[in-house]
Amino acid sequence: MCGIIAYKGKDKAISVILEGLKNLEYRGYDSWGIACKSNPSIVLTKGVGNIGEVTEEEIKSELYKGKPLTIGIGHTRWATHGGVTKENAHPHQSENHRVAVVHNGIIENFEELKAKLKNIKFKSETDTEVIPQLLQYHMESRKDFEKAFVDTLKELQGNYAVVAIDQQSDKVLFGKVGSPLVIGKKEDEYFVASDIPAFLKHTNQVIYLEDGEYGSIGDSLKIYKLSNNQIINKDVQTVDWNLEQAQKGEYPHFMIKEIMEQRDSITRALEQKNSNLLKVIEMMKKAKGIFLVGCGTSFHACVSASYNFSHIAKAHVNIVLASEFRNYEEFLTDESLMIAVSQSGETADLIDAVKVAKAKGVKIISLVNVMGSTLKRMSDESLLMNAGPEICVCSTKNYTSQLAILLLLAYGFADRLEEGKELIQSAANKVEELIKNNLDKIKDLAKKLKDNKNMFLIGRDLAYPSALEGALKIKEVSYIHAEGFAGGELKHGTIALIEEGTPVITLATPETEQLINSNAIEIKSRGGYIIGIGSKKHEVYDFYIEVPNFKQANPLLMIVPIQLLAYYLAVERNCNPDKPRNLAKSVTVR
Ligand code: M6R
Repeated sequence: MCGIIAYKGKDKAISVILEGLKNLEYRGYDSWGIACKSNPSIVLTKGVGNIGEVTEEEIKSELYKGKPLTIGIGHTRWATHGGVTKENAHPHQSENHRVAVVHNGIIENFEELKAKLKNIKFKSETDTEVIPQLLQYHMESRKDFEKAFVDTLKELQGNYAVVAIDQQSDKVLFGKVGSPLVIGKKEDEYFVASDIPAFLKHTNQVIYLEDGEYGSIGDSLKIYKLSNNQIINKDVQTVDWNLEQAQKGEYPHFMIKEIMEQRDSITRALEQKNSNLLKVIEMMKKAKGIFLVGCGTSFHACVSASYNFSHIAKAHVNIVLASEFRNYEEFLTDESLMIAVSQSGETADLIDAVKVAKAKGVKIISLVNVMGSTLKRMSDESLLMNAGPEICVCSTKNYTSQLAILLLLAYGFADRLEEGKELIQSAANKVEELIKNNLDKIKDLAKKLKDNKNMFLIGRDLAYPSALEGALKIKEVSYIHAEGFAGGELKHGTIALIEEGTPVITLATPETEQLINSNAIEIKSRGGYIIGIGSKKHEVYDFYIEVPNFKQANPLLMIVPIQLLAYYLAVERNCNPDKPRNLAKSVTVR
């Protein structure tokens, strides 16, 4: 995925766009670019790498030629088609330089369109460049920027959120299919962006665009349906995210800020209207076949929930990775129910899974953090995580919010909703103390483990998904190979990798400590270094982190020390935990 921001308003396009791109960097940080409408031509600057260090003065020296810059577009890229080069960075221009375009998504028929434009010389290897070139092609016959833009959109296949500017027009044009685009409005200033943090400093008044909608910002904002060019009246909504939530504040990285916020984010997750929860629970009770579906961390929350549904609700749920979901198509009927779990609500594999399910008449409940997301709009019912913006690419606070809501649903299914709420809230109240008691120890542990090449995590029952999630955290931010296992599985092969000093994190709950500690003994006898996490210390542990026992809510707390360990491992190894290599916050490619 990539990040887009466009601005039309006062003579401050550079600063708004630069700041917006910095706030969108979690969506991609291979390269960046800004284009502003000026006179006599569009001015443009691009760079490779992340935009974090670039200053307004540097951009101004490139773009500002003494003329007011009130209209501009910017882009931060996560490369798909074409390598990470300045030429491939957006914005892309038409051959005649009249229009400039930023795009997030994939144009699937770009080769076909390129063939149609065979007389035009392309400069980049991207799929995106066909958009400005096609726009130029249509402008030659249409003689009108907006009409040509509509003709262009109609020819695009695939996913796009696209914004275009024209040197000879004062309009900003935008459209979307499959990739997010939201408009911010503040009196006579307009913002168009992939996500709200891009402009949250300026306004919290937003309009979410639906797929198949396009529009223009000229003297005013107009939005149309692409299929019939009919104008649509859209509601302006107020978002309750605040600027502090979208900024690092005193913290060096978003990851540590978001780990520290978890008492509050879990508390907010519990602030669901009972009527909404009961509606969802009713749908679950009625369903014949429940599928919990997600990717990455969100999938781990589903795995954890499957234990809760078994232990608390005595209800069978299927857990399926979104990318594998279509293989279960034959089991779907119009009485099935899908619970789609996603922070962003934009993950392509999950959106595809939802489409497969909907085609079979399956009802969709989503758990999402981003209010206007595609997934939320595709769902029959939706529960918001209320975690606030999660900016770090690596998901932390959102995971514990997902765990909390899914656990609440399990208690609700068993008609014990209030008991569930109390348990989760009391676990949440322990987060700060848990961090305070263990922070220095974990920093020391990270120093000790930082040069290891491999690490293993084991857990049983509810601690097993915590092992999976812990391994993912360590891998993605520190680049140390880490694998999570069910305690019983390590000995079926992977134990062959244990040698002198190999770190193994064992996650014990009171119900599983006997068996997991005996696994730890087996590992230790082969030289493993045991890091025990749980409510009771055992002599086999070389290093111990105490986590209080909150029964079914244990996963909410157990993951916190591992999140911290992953963070400090990244810091020790000079990796930027907020922007891990090769990753992007939401994965909108298949
Ligand atoms: O936005 P989603 O929850 O759908 O994202 C799913 C995964 O891409 C995401 O959880 C990913 O695994 C994170 N980088 C994990 O920290």
